[in-house]
Order: sequence, then structure tokens, then C-alpha cells
Amino acid sequence: MAVILLLDDEKSIRTILGALLKDAGHEVIEAADTDEAIRCVERYPLDVALLDILLGTGNGLDVARHIHDWRPDVRVILMTGEPNFASARQSISLRIFDYLVKPFEPQAVLETISRAAAAKARDMERILLIKERERTQEDLERRVRVRTAELNQAAVNLHALAAHLQVVREEERKALARELHDEFGQKLTALQIDLSWLDRKLQPVQPGLGAEMRDKIVAMMPLVEQLTEMTQAICASLRPGMLDDLGLLAAIEWQVEDCERRTGLKCALSIPAEDLVLERDDALALFRILQEALTNVVRHAQATQVMIKLVITDGELEMDVQDNGRGFTPEACPVSEALGLLSMRERAIGFQGTVNIQSKPGHGTAVQVRMPLVQRVVTSVHGENSPGFEGPTTASGTSSSPSGPVSITGSDSSPLGGE
Ligand SMILES: Nc1ncnc2c1ncn2[C@@H]1O[C@H](COP(=O)(O)OP(=O)(O)O)[C@@H](O)[C@H]1O
Ligand SMILES: [Mg+2]
Repeated sequence: MAVILLLDDEKSIRTILGALLKDAGHEVIEAADTDEAIRCVERYPLDVALLDILLGTGNGLDVARHIHDWRPDVRVILMTGEPNFASARQSISLRIFDYLVKPFEPQAVLETISRAAAAKARDMERILLIKERERTQEDLERRVRVRTAELNQAAVNLHALAAHLQVVREEERKALARELHDEFGQKLTALQIDLSWLDRKLQPVQPGLGAEMRDKIVAMMPLVEQLTEMTQAICASLRPGMLDDLGLLAAIEWQVEDCERRTGLKCALSIPAEDLVLERDDALALFRILQEALTNVVRHAQATQVMIKLVITDGELEMDVQDNGRGFTPEACPVSEALGLLSMRERAIGFQGTVNIQSKPGHGTAVQVRMPLVQRVVTSVHGENSPGFEGPTTASGTSSSPSGPVSITGSDSSPLGGE
């Protein structure tokens, strides 16, 4: 069923055609002149317009033009007594659907109308489909936007959580180090004093049981001493107090020397001539990254050499840790098995920096850390802020020229306090 506008100035034609169309199930809206027809175009949801061309007053083509401009979805069929070239040309530009030539053949009229109505219905379907597609597309885009925003927020939250966990962890390490130092360390010292006292008291004792006891005590003394040293080492790895006392570069020098002394790995260190005074958190983050990188070299690289280089360029601090070990494929490392690398990256995010790991099996590994220094750094003369420092026991051959690489030798192997 279609809604049809029927324009003809002859009442008899309107009556006959109207009846024919209504009988076929269509809804018919009649108009006797162009003004009335245009009003109908604006008012009714038409599907088809059946327009007589030559009217007593006006011309059906004017209505066709109005429809072309304002309701291009309505199919227009022209009725004419004698079709001529001029009207045919105009009808092409007005995208007329078809012609009916008087006198009308009822069957032809109905057939043309139903073709026009079907064409209109197809258009409508297409439009609905396009609208539906646009709606789906918009909905999809909206959902992607929402999801992206959620993911971004989740990433921000995760970075914040990681940063918070690092702070908590450092606090716990600090507390543990303090407890170890104060409780364990002091009690070990007391034990040492007591052992010395016993040793002294037993010195005049005669051979026999007393001498045996003394031997035991003398044997216990180095054990207690070892325990004390181990406690100190654990304290140092838990909390690099040197970072506060001596500054980043001295702490790095000590760490590298310690690594070489304990593992036998050949370490070459190159640091800037002037000291760096960073915020404690930034210095600690960089120091922890170095510890993790060195721990990885010791644990995984099977390297014989490692080079650690710190340079300041263009308002940026760059730290490189490069080994000559077996290398690996970073991209192939599942995150669940690369938490150390992840923690390095998270630490770097904390100071708005980056960690870049270049490695290939058989080609060693290079860890590059960048830290922007804008409003972050105060430089001072190397070692200026280290008054009265006794210094940790360093390996033999220690040489830490401010600008050149240091090279130390030694052996032993244990973690460096990395992640
Ligand atoms: N310097 C390195 N040389 C060779 N392999 C390395 C090196 N650093 C890291 N890797 C590889 O990357 C993996 C992930 O390192 P990491 O996240 O620190 O975890 P973990 O040290 O706990 O295994 C290591 O298991 C190792 O296979
Ligand atoms: Mg690791």
C-alpha cells in the first residue's frame, strides 16, 4: 500500500483514477491545482506523486520541481496527453520516475504505481540500513572511546600502584635494615665482647677442660665476626645508606666494585666528572635499576665483562649497562617472567624517564636508562658532599677516577640487592 498524491484539474479523472487506486489498496490524496499539491507534499508522508502536466492554471512540472528539491524520496509519475520533447527533457533533470499517457490503461497505471512504490520502499530500506550502520558505527566508536579511556585510567592506576608499592617496599627495607643493624648488629657486638671476656678469663686456666673451652671460644670468634659482616652486607643491600651519605655516583662506584669483588665479573665504570645531586627518590630509583641490571648480568648473561657508563647530555642523564654475555630476546620474554625488567621500567616512569633494552642471543645485552634532568639536578664537585666517610671495604685494586672508568678485581658471587 502506498500513499499517493493525485494532481489533476479535471475532477472526472481524479474520480476515476482515485477509485482505481483506492480499490488496489492505496491511500489517495487529491489536489486540483499546484498550490494545493505543494501543500500536500509538505503535509503528507507521500510515496508516489501522480501529476498532470498541463493544468488550467499552472504546470505539474512545478510540483515535480518542488518534490525534487524538498522530498527527493517521493517517486514522481507524470500524466500527459501529448508528451513533447521539452517536457521530456525537463523530466530527466527532475528525475521523473515514469510517464503515463492519456487515455490511461488501468492495468498499466497500477503496474507503474506499484513499481514506483517498490522503488521508494527499497530506498527507505537502504536509508534505514545506512542509518542502522551509522548507529552501530557510532556505538562502536563510543564503546572504543570509553574502553580506551578505561584502559588509560587503568594504566595510570597501575603505574601509581607500582610506584606506591616501590615506596612501601623501600620503607620496609629501610625498617628491616634498621632493625637488623640495631637489634642484630648490637647483639652480635655484645656477643663478641662477651667472647673476648671469656677468652681473657680463661687464659690463665690450666690445660684440660679450660683449654678446650678456650679453643672453642677462639673458634667461635671469627664466626661471630662473619655474622656481623654478613649483617652489615645485608643492611647495605637492603638500604643503600651510602646514597644519602655520599651521593649517587659514589654509591654506584661502590656497587660496581662490590659486584666485581663478589662475582669476578670485569666491570668498567665511567661516570661524569662532576657529582650529581638528585632528589633522593630519583637517585634511589636509578640506583635500584643499576642493581637490577647488574644482578641480571650476574644471573643470566654468562658475561665476562660489563660496562657501566653515566653521561649527562642535553639536559638528560643517560646510564648504560652493557654486557658481553649470551644475550636474549626481550620481546619474547613474557611479562610474568620479566618482573625485574618491568620494575626497571616502572622505576623509570616514576622519574619520567625510560628504560630501553637492546639484546639479541649471542650479542650481549645493553640496558639504556634515560632520566630527564630539567629542574631535577644540582651538580657539585665530585665527592664534595662526603665528609668523614670511612667507606665500605672495597676490593683490591680499586680505582675510581672521577671521569675515567674504574676497574676492580675480585671473586665471589651473590645477588647485588637488585629486584
Ligand atoms: N643481561 C642479560 N643477559 C641475558 N639474559 C637476560 C639479561 N637480563 C635479562 N635477561 C633475561 O630476561 C629475563 C627477565 O629478566 P628479569 O625480568 O630481571 O627476571 P629474573 O631476573 O627474575 O629472571 C631473564 O630471566 C633472562 O632470561
Ligand atoms: Mg632480574
